[in-house]
Amino acid sequence: MAGAGISTPSGIPDFRSPGSGLYSNLEQYDIPYPEAIFELGYFFVNPKPFFTLAKELYPGNYRPNSAHYFLRLLHDKGLLLRPYTQNIDGLERVAGIPPDRLVEAHGTFATATCTVCQRNFPGEDFRGDVMGDRIPRCPVCTGVVKPDIVFFGEQLPQRFLLHLTDFPMADLLFVIGTSLEVEPFASLAGAVRSSVPRVLINRELVGPFAWQQRHNDVAQLGDVVGGVEKLVELLGWKKEMQTLIQKEKEKVGRGSDPQLPPQPLRSLCWS
Ligand code: APR
Repeated sequence: MAGAGISTPSGIPDFRSPGSGLYSNLEQYDIPYPEAIFELGYFFVNPKPFFTLAKELYPGNYRPNSAHYFLRLLHDKGLLLRPYTQNIDGLERVAGIPPDRLVEAHGTFATATCTVCQRNFPGEDFRGDVMGDRIPRCPVCTGVVKPDIVFFGEQLPQRFLLHLTDFPMADLLFVIGTSLEVEPFASLAGAVRSSVPRVLINRELVGPFAWQQRHNDVAQLGDVVGGVEKLVELLGWKKEMQTLIQKEKEKVGRGSDPQLPPQPLRSLCWS
């Protein structure tokens, strides 16, 4: 189970960290309250704040970090039943985890839907509009096209229902970089059998790790990259991890990253 905390080392702010989190830095968007930027009612009245934020979050501007590559290594070793992420930055895909293995519980920029005629489009079709500060319009009915990001109150993707079989089957649960504040995703932490160890890698104790601990819960508190790298070392996978990251970086260097069209290098810092 992953949240925005796995992408802060890549330069993408999370939502709730005091001061640095997205929800503490929305003054520029002129919205009534932070979560409005992800609310349909507000979006239909004024989609501009969301698309201004989308320009910053759009896949292609950031690179995965060790936390993403740890998930990729688990996948390569056939140990990863299924990554459930709340993140919309697409960095799990960029790290090489096949999209059909992923559950992107809060949606993705990879696809988009017209809010009027409901036609689906590849998200890539509207990158130019978003980067050019234009509201994406449906080529058929000219309705506003919204990336398939799950807004508050919207249904989660059908794939989220895979948890009904995955979590009872899991024999180990990682919870990485999330406040476990948002339902129904947060409740997944309690969906594994009581005999299954749950490992939290996060700055602070969250959710059931804070208020309903189990005897076999483990918490590695502190920076997510440091925590993951410590675990990788203990597992004896340090060399494999370094080789994987080097190989992926060379791919990007050759501009042949299958997940991303060649992108002008942009500042990795949050503007
Ligand atoms: N190392 C370790 N922990 C970190 C790091 C880091 N570098 N950066 C952030 N964290 C922790 C924070 O301390 C916090 O506990 O990650 C967690 C991030 O929590 P949120 O900002 O609430 O992000 P997330 O849990 O993903 O939010 C869930 O809320 O608004 C919605 O749809 C949005 O998917 C999002 C959902």
